[in-house]
Amino acid sequence: MSASDLKYMPGFGNDFETEALPGALPQGMNSPQKCSYGLYAEQLSGTAFTAPSHQNERTWCYRIRPSVKHSTRYTKVSLPYWKSAPHVVEDVISLGQHRWDPVPHSGEELTWLTGMRTMTTAGDVNTQVGMASHIYLVTRSMVDEYFYSADSELLIVPQEGRLRFCTELGIIDLEPKEIAILPRGLVYRVELLDGPARGFVCENYGQKFELPGRGPIGANCMANRRDFKSPVAWYEDRETPSKITIKWCGQFHETKIGHSPLDIVAWHGNYAPVKYDLRTYCPIGAILFDHPDPSIFTVLTAPSGVPGTANIDFVLFRERWMVAENTFRPPWYHKNIMSELMGNIYGQYDAKPQGFVPGGMSLHNMMLPHGPDKNAYEGASNADLKAEKLDNTMSFMFETRFPQHLTEFAAKEAPLQDDYIDCWESLEKKFDGTPEGTWNK
Ligand SMILES: [Fe+2]
Repeated sequence: MSASDLKYMPGFGNDFETEALPGALPQGMNSPQKCSYGLYAEQLSGTAFTAPSHQNERTWCYRIRPSVKHSTRYTKVSLPYWKSAPHVVEDVISLGQHRWDPVPHSGEELTWLTGMRTMTTAGDVNTQVGMASHIYLVTRSMVDEYFYSADSELLIVPQEGRLRFCTELGIIDLEPKEIAILPRGLVYRVELLDGPARGFVCENYGQKFELPGRGPIGANCMANRRDFKSPVAWYEDRETPSKITIKWCGQFHETKIGHSPLDIVAWHGNYAPVKYDLRTYCPIGAILFDHPDPSIFTVLTAPSGVPGTANIDFVLFRERWMVAENTFRPPWYHKNIMSELMGNIYGQYDAKPQGFVPGGMSLHNMMLPHGPDKNAYEGASNADLKAEKLDNTMSFMFETRFPQHLTEFAAKEAPLQDDYIDCWESLEKKFDGTPEGTWNK
């Protein structure tokens, strides 16, 4: 199937309905005595049955076989590079400012599962709080192999190469500058459209991502609901030896079946995978002076139990105009109770003109100071403040209320920059007791 054959339905959290065969979707009810085409009706619940109605998510699926036929006995399998919280490594120091060059491809044959490399974990997968951040390196499509995570929804941020997610609820093609969310419990396989592929994943153990409230901003700008796209129904009726890997409480299990589990012919509901084009994100910011908090760039937020304190915010720093007068325009120096993991999708980030490159990551953990490097500080402090477009830039942040712990891979195998801390070393004291300081000396 070519990319142009794929169809999507617009809207975030809409109550969708879609069928791959005419009349496959029951009308006016969910569970007829007999479904047409001999399909089985099955509900996939993304929230507790009794969740408040504005948060309640579920999808009714009409499938060739019920999901109980897509599993037999389970055996444990090992995916040693995919870690789950809590994962605090004795001889790894997570305290500190960290930055990585892009994790290179190794030439090894890697799928979506074997190519997942956990960088940080936060919170606790068993109590469904926190997250993990991963890099994926994919060089091979999954063939008759499927996966689902009972632990988490996955937010996927490609940086290089295109991927196809063949899911129970339809097909999503994904390329750099787009993101996708794959809900907890959804079965899928991942194919390489052109490779190799590399990108970032935020594994959300907690409450689902939703759009942030805009408050006084009003009904428009930032991420708009219509720009999110969910796939239409699609199915395979394929009898072939297959295996499904399941991530459950941080452990991996395998079950073998004799057919493809992607057999949902029709579905309706509001629990579905979704993609979003980051180029449609409409940033807003200061139009006279000063600098809003970076939360102004929040694309999606996954709430925690504390109002306004996210389990995860997904924040986007993209092209925009800088117009503030008499203002230091890059991000200010700060310490943050939240833990900030950043990735560069393309271009140059304004607070770090060097060293933070596409495919690279940085981590500024809970209450650890950071801010512009020497070059960014000097440049922005002395710039002629005319209207300026920040062009060719797209970075993002996974920000969580929980401290992020480095994995062995992040600390010992990934290309960690030992000298990152030095980017602030040459910042000098400009204070000499006079209001002018030593700027001109
Ligand atoms: Fe920060």
